Amino acid sequence: MLFDTHVHLNVHQFDEDREEVMVRAKSAGVEYMVVVGFDHETIPKAIELAEAHSNIYAAVGWHPVDAIDMTEKELTWLEELSKHPKVVAIGEMGLDYHWDKSPKDVQKEVFRKQIQLAKKVDLPIIIHNREATEDIIQLLKEEKAEEVGGIMHCYSDSPEYVQECLDMNFYISLGGPVTFKNATLPKEVAKIVPLDRLLIETDCPFLAPHPNRGKRNEPAYVKLVAEKIAELRDTTFEQISQTTTENALRFFQIK
Ligand code: NI
Repeated sequence: MLFDTHVHLNVHQFDEDREEVMVRAKSAGVEYMVVVGFDHETIPKAIELAEAHSNIYAAVGWHPVDAIDMTEKELTWLEELSKHPKVVAIGEMGLDYHWDKSPKDVQKEVFRKQIQLAKKVDLPIIIHNREATEDIIQLLKEEKAEEVGGIMHCYSDSPEYVQECLDMNFYISLGGPVTFKNATLPKEVAKIVPLDRLLIETDCPFLAPHPNRGKRNEPAYVKLVAEKIAELRDTTFEQISQTTTENALRFFQIK
């Protein structure tokens, strides 16, 4: 049994064959998924998918790339949605210094507001980090994010920051990059994260694992991520799939 903790089945890339993709996920052993909404279009779609499927849950947040578009109205909207029984986390949120649509100070402010919201509604958070690790850790500390905990989604930084994340009550989620032939950091991270803090994800339709790299990703491929982690840790696929599923159920408080 597998739990894909970060999917975007709510985006247009799945409009043609969403049901078939879900059937393939089931066949691959993917029992649970969290669909992550991040803007005006994808958030309602995440809720809709969670309402229609008993094994699908939703996370709602505002993406840092679009931080400049978030107003009090969106924040209030997120707070209302957080009460939905299938909403299990706030996010994705964070900092993205790769794109410059939203200035850094605006991204930081929107990130802070969402951490504060998560604490108010008592839900964990999902972090998107691109080229911003040190600022993210600093901000998580300042806002005392350890009170709700969270996921470092598709963790792709060096192993040196892992302990700080663990100390803040965070889980480390690994995706497709752990399977990439030239990716050394995620492989090192896969070996050192304590098993009880490890999660797996696809982040589909992005970051398809080897040998599907470059193609559209889908939840069924989370199996490839689990297999690679098992190989790197010199353990069995069964142990990785079972433990990461238990971790995700506990983290999202799914009964
Ligand atoms: Ni994502």
